[in-house]
Amino acid sequence: MESTKELIYFDNAATSWPKPERVYTFMMEFYRATGVNPGRSGFDLAIEAGSLLDRLRLRLTRFFGGDEDTPERLCFGYNATDALHLIINGLLTQGDHVVTTNLEHNSVIRPINHLIRDGGVEATFLPFDGAGFVDPGDIAKAIRPNTKLVIVNHGSNVLGTIQPVKEIGRICRERGVTFAIDTTQTAGVVPIDMKEMNVDVLAFTGHKALMGTTGIGGLCVRKHVHLRQTRSGGTGVNSMNPYHLEEYPWRMEFGTPNMLGVASLWAGQDWLDEQGVQNIYAHEMKLATKLVEGLRRIEGVRLYCCDSFKNHLSTFTLNIDGLDAGDVGMMLDVDYSIATRTGLHCAPLVHAQLGTVDIHGGVRFSIGAFNNEEQVDAAIGAMTAIASWGAERKRQGTGQAGRK
Ligand SMILES: Cc1ncc(COP(=O)(O)O)c(C=O)c1O
Repeated sequence: MESTKELIYFDNAATSWPKPERVYTFMMEFYRATGVNPGRSGFDLAIEAGSLLDRLRLRLTRFFGGDEDTPERLCFGYNATDALHLIINGLLTQGDHVVTTNLEHNSVIRPINHLIRDGGVEATFLPFDGAGFVDPGDIAKAIRPNTKLVIVNHGSNVLGTIQPVKEIGRICRERGVTFAIDTTQTAGVVPIDMKEMNVDVLAFTGHKALMGTTGIGGLCVRKHVHLRQTRSGGTGVNSMNPYHLEEYPWRMEFGTPNMLGVASLWAGQDWLDEQGVQNIYAHEMKLATKLVEGLRRIEGVRLYCCDSFKNHLSTFTLNIDGLDAGDVGMMLDVDYSIATRTGLHCAPLVHAQLGTVDIHGGVRFSIGAFNNEEQVDAAIGAMTAIASWGAERKRQGTGQAGRK
């Protein structure tokens, strides 16, 4: 039977939803009026479409604190996974070593594992501390003469902790190692300045706090960084060249761009300018604090790495003692119309370190710009009821409630 309750969406770390109204409106207007292929043809409409694409390159370069005189080094792709693949494969070759962390998403872990298995690359995965942070001192110690890359998840998509990237960047600069960050969870809620943070290259996705659609993301490459080409295909220009163009942005772009996504990101930037990234962060953290305080009072709720919300996103993960994470998520969904994300969150090393793999990971709440206090109250109420149901089951001796 279909639920009649209005959905309470606490899965913003998966994708932000809804989007600001102006994003929907602008996408529709732009695509109706200018939905042609940019950079391929010389008629006015194609030039207009290309102009939005190039203006967005500059706008996002500024947003990320990249090199404004080389906006062509802001390249678009499908998403963060795509960008991270290009970064990792464009920098590492046989004999190289990479330093990374247990906080990474599979979009970093897997390309590195492929290179370890098939490409003669070595890697060091560093653990996080009890509060969910990687120690920059550990990074410094892990760097070897053949270390080519340090790559770190700026904001954990499981724990919500924001890593000390400025400090890590300083170490990488001193040691002459390229520093890359994955801003998937931070872009749009945490100010990012690549120059100030000594970040050489970053990956972003469009569909989270940048308020764009799925299917667009990219990378911002500082001008001193050399990325090898690992893919090739159509670029729309210089067709007689038998090889893929070496110049940016084509160097890292392949085929027709996602113009609907470009329009969404443009309007998303308008919205972020209007609201202010800091104000959005403050709103989300106010709600996250209220939610965590409420959850902390519930017997049996185990919260991971949110004793303090300093350097934290409005994302956090928990379990209820004796209950399987998947079952808690299902009860939240079916009985209370509350959307969360359960499981391993594509970050298996986080759960391996937390020791939560055997209970199917955890239940992740991620608050977004459009959540409100009533929804937080509803979540606390739902979690109270689920935890007391679990405790009752335990008292009755039925053991682990739910499926295995
Ligand atoms: C930290 C992190 N990195 C990378 C990704 C991959 O992002 P996308 O699915 O947009 O490629 C995610 C997705 O949730 C993420 O949370």
